[in-house]
Order: sequence, then structure tokens, then C-alpha cells
Amino acid sequence: MIAKTVFNLYHQFPDRVLDPVTGAPVSLDRLVEVLPPSLAAMELDTRAELPVPEDLREVFAEYRPTPIFEARRFAEAIGGGSRILVKDEGRTASGNHKMNSALWIAYHCARDGVRTITTETTGNWGLALALAGQRFGVHVVCFLDKRSADARPDREELMRRAGAEVIVVGGDDDEYDPLVLSANEAVTYTRQRGDSAYIFGSVYNYFILPQTMTGVEARAELGDEQPDVVVGSCGGGANLLGIAAPYLAARVDGTADTEVLCAESELCPIVSKGVLGHYSIDEQDHYPKLVTYGLERLLGSAYIGGLGSTIVAAPVAAFHQAGALRTAQFSADEAARAAQLFERTEGRRVALETGYQLAGVIQEARRRPGGRILVNVSSVDRSSFA
Ligand SMILES: Cc1ncc(COP(=O)(O)O)c(C=O)c1O
Repeated sequence: MIAKTVFNLYHQFPDRVLDPVTGAPVSLDRLVEVLPPSLAAMELDTRAELPVPEDLREVFAEYRPTPIFEARRFAEAIGGGSRILVKDEGRTASGNHKMNSALWIAYHCARDGVRTITTETTGNWGLALALAGQRFGVHVVCFLDKRSADARPDREELMRRAGAEVIVVGGDDDEYDPLVLSANEAVTYTRQRGDSAYIFGSVYNYFILPQTMTGVEARAELGDEQPDVVVGSCGGGANLLGIAAPYLAARVDGTADTEVLCAESELCPIVSKGVLGHYSIDEQDHYPKLVTYGLERLLGSAYIGGLGSTIVAAPVAAFHQAGALRTAQFSADEAARAAQLFERTEGRRVALETGYQLAGVIQEARRRPGGRILVNVSSVDRSSFA
């Protein structure tokens, strides 16, 4: 069953969104200066659940609910007798979880009369938004950093084929944080043009809300067979909160004790080493600030795709502060080895970021022999795009 509502974590953790200049709780008037009205309202909404508009539900129904399969051969190869349940977000049109937010955002932007959306991407998000923009008649301009363009060369072409304009920014040097760089370029462009809306591709509530459909579905589908642990990977927090939001909320409420592991890149330990403060994704006082964790910089230059975010969704920080979230850091090698084992045993190639999650799954399977582990995966490529 596709969810009729999405799960709003700002119900449990309100008052996390601040005016970028004054640092006071942000007003709706200030938010609508930078966000389309529907999305602006979502940053201030504290209802426990928000409805999914009926016509948008019909679009989600084309691929939701996504299937859950049991990765038996992967579990056997790891040993220890655990059961590994995989929620397959690779079934979306973009091959990853970003599509859920892309459709939600493009739908609301179109309804608000927005003609052009600008965004930053390391590849996956831009492609999902391009596809969703095409669907709802909104033009998309993607700012892609040069290192990501080189690391995943198919993304740029796929975005263009989906009708988006792609602007590659930065150079080959290793000194920049890709998301910060392209977010700032996109904000500058948006402010100069004035006829477009800049939308950041994670972290904010308008992005997290539709992701929660994944965890809500999983919880309903698993019925009496709930997992002992849920494993998510964390860049801006959308993937992690998507699969884990209802489990984390229940843990904080004391109504369930499913554990949640956040798999991080050792080069961007945003949850385990992030510092609580007020952070925004741009350096121009454009977007609102959030009460959340931030990292000053990435700890190395190896390519980690969407896991290289130096700011995380406010509820991730709140859950971590509440002791509801464990973390583990993995190297690029560990992630690649886990992805290779999954491919060899399950016949599926997963996204670079998903490799970190699978490394987390291996850790948990060894930690608790015989346990039940829930994980969501994204695909390396986009299967449904001819
Ligand atoms: C497949 C995949 N997983 C995880 C992430 C991490 O980002 P977030 O935590 O914002 O979902 C990304 C971001 O690009 C991604 O493409």
C-alpha cells in the first residue's frame, strides 16, 4: 500500500529552522523569499503527518511500494546466520531514493507556478530532478562539480537527455567540497536571474518528508517481523531518515527498540564528529540556517559522491543527541568490497553510496549473529532509461 501521508520529523523536533541573518526562528515571509510557498510551509509545519496529494500518489504508485527482498546469498557469504532484508529503492526511474523527493518537489513547484528550478548535484540528485521536472513541466538547471562529472561521466549526459541544463563548475584540484561549491554557484546564478527557485537536494524538510515513505512502507510490510537493526548511509540525511525515520521516532518515544546504524564515509563523519551549531548550505545568507551538525571540511579528497555533505538534516543531529542513532565509518575500499560481495552473491550492482551501507550491514551481521537487518539500496545505473 502506498502511504497516504508522509512522516514529519519536525513534529518531534520543532524549531530547528532559523533566519540566516538574525538567527531567530525563521518566519514564513522570509522563507517564501527563497522557497516556493508549498515548500516553505513544509519547513514550519509541525503536524505529525502531512497528506500526499491524490494525483501525486498516482505518480508514486508507478513504482511504490518498492519491493523488499531477502539477500540470502549475501547473508550466507557473510556467515553468522543473520537475515538481511533489502528495500529496493533502485526501482525508481532514477535508480535511487532521490526520485521520491524529486517528484514531490517538482510537483509542488509546478503547482506553485515555478518555471525553473536550479540545484547542485554530484550526479544522482540532478538526474532524479531532471526526470521529475520533465514530468511536471518544470525546467531544471543542474550545477555539477567537475570531479563528480569525471567520476560518473554518464550522469551529465543522462541529465541532459532528461531535458536539464547542466553547468559544470570547479576544476580538477582536490581542495573543494563539491556540494558547497556547486550550491554556492547555483545560489549566485539564481539570485542574478531572479526567475528561478534554488532547491537544495537533501537536508531540508521538503526533501526529507517524501523519503519517509520508504521506512513507513517497510514497517507496514514487515508486520510482526520487524528488524533488530536498520542500516542507512548518510550524506545530507535523506537516505538514512528515509528508511529509518519511523524506527528512530519509535525508539525516542520508547515504543520500539529497533536499533539504527548510520554508515558514514571516514572522510565525512558528519554525524559522529559533526559539531552542533547553526548551519546553512550556502555562504550568502540565502537559505535558512538549521540547528544541526556541521563539519568544517571533508577529511580527504577521495571521491565519496553524495556522502560528502558537511551539513546534515536537523532530525539526524537530534536523534544522535538523543542516543537513538549509532554510527560507523568505512573507507572507500571497505565500501567497494561490500558492494562487490553483494554483486557477486545477489547479481545486483549498487550505487557507490550504497556500498557504505552494505559495509554497515556486514558489520552488523557479525556483531549480532542470527539478527534481522533492514537496509535500503540504490542502483548504480538507471535501468528504466532507454
Ligand atoms: C544513492 C545515494 N545514497 C545516499 C546518498 C546520500 O545522500 P543523502 O543522505 O542526502 O540521501 C546519495 C546522495 O547523493 C545517493 O545518491
